Amino acid sequence: MREVYLGWHELAMEALRQEVANPREYKDVDRIVVLGMGGSGIAGDLVALTGLETGSAFVTVVKDFYVPKPVVNDRTLVLAISYSGNTRETLLSLELCSKRTSKIVAVSSGGLLEEYAMKRGIPFVKVRRGLAPRTALPALYAAAMKGLLTVGVSMCESSTLERWFDVLKEVRKAEFDAASLASFLRRARMPLIVASARYAVLATRIKNELNENAKMPAKVEIAPELFHNDIVGWERKLYSDRAIVVESDIPYEVEYLKLYTEILTDVGFEVEMLRLIGDGVVPRVLYGSLVAGLASVKVAEIAGIDPLATKSIAAYKSFINNMEGEIRRTLGLSD
Ligand code: PA5
Repeated sequence: MREVYLGWHELAMEALRQEVANPREYKDVDRIVVLGMGGSGIAGDLVALTGLETGSAFVTVVKDFYVPKPVVNDRTLVLAISYSGNTRETLLSLELCSKRTSKIVAVSSGGLLEEYAMKRGIPFVKVRRGLAPRTALPALYAAAMKGLLTVGVSMCESSTLERWFDVLKEVRKAEFDAASLASFLRRARMPLIVASARYAVLATRIKNELNENAKMPAKVEIAPELFHNDIVGWERKLYSDRAIVVESDIPYEVEYLKLYTEILTDVGFEVEMLRLIGDGVVPRVLYGSLVAGLASVKVAEIAGIDPLATKSIAAYKSFINNMEGEIRRTLGLSD
């Protein structure tokens, strides 16, 4: 897995260069909805962050079997992302959305999503096969952005994405930062990940990487919302562990994160700041994700566990597959 993380720059560039199958232009798009779960859902969160940062779009990310009616109409562009192409939540919500809009883009490494896109002539971007979905994050994000550009939805130029991806070349620094983070986290029981709202995607990504690679529970707290609830939960000092605070690049956020660091320290937490590099929030989140990926693999190695295996996810997927009935028929694909 480590090698895949270290190759993220090439992975992203490869996806950006990928030809889009069934290209076409969509006119009159007034909103974007992304469908995706887990590692693929985080790629959707990055697309949403890009829309906010470039001021070009407000993107809603749906992580469910069901998409509420007001969320999608005939001017909505729906972007379905599933690394395997076989995730039920994504496929079923896509099928539902396809009854409300014809503006669809799909991203996967294959699976039913690819079949569905090819059968219906949906613009489709294929990413490299054979990876753990979470390690494919930059490929899924780059492919999603490429798909959006191809259908005429431009949140930023390709050259901007290429510039952002440059941060993923900083592998030596990332390995160094990851080693320090892993040694901080190795004895944690349920670490706390704290970030300001603009970095919420990264906090969730760090949690997910610790969950899936290091098999470690983790809790996310987002400021300033945490000052209205989570903070009170520490008043009785019933639990303390290790906390990672994601560095911000905005002065007032730096100040309130400092205040919270002091509060957590007083509760008994050991706190370490995750420092980020990159010119802008998206590259900084990409860099932080790289460090988190490498660190979580290192924690797994130290604990003697396999970072790749996620047997609980597999058990859930087989449970849901038995419950939901034959998906191929629901999607209108032949057996
Ligand atoms: O990282 C993982 O392995 C998971 O979180 C998957 O991304 C999640 O189960 C969804 O699967 P997929 O990404 O194939 O749609």
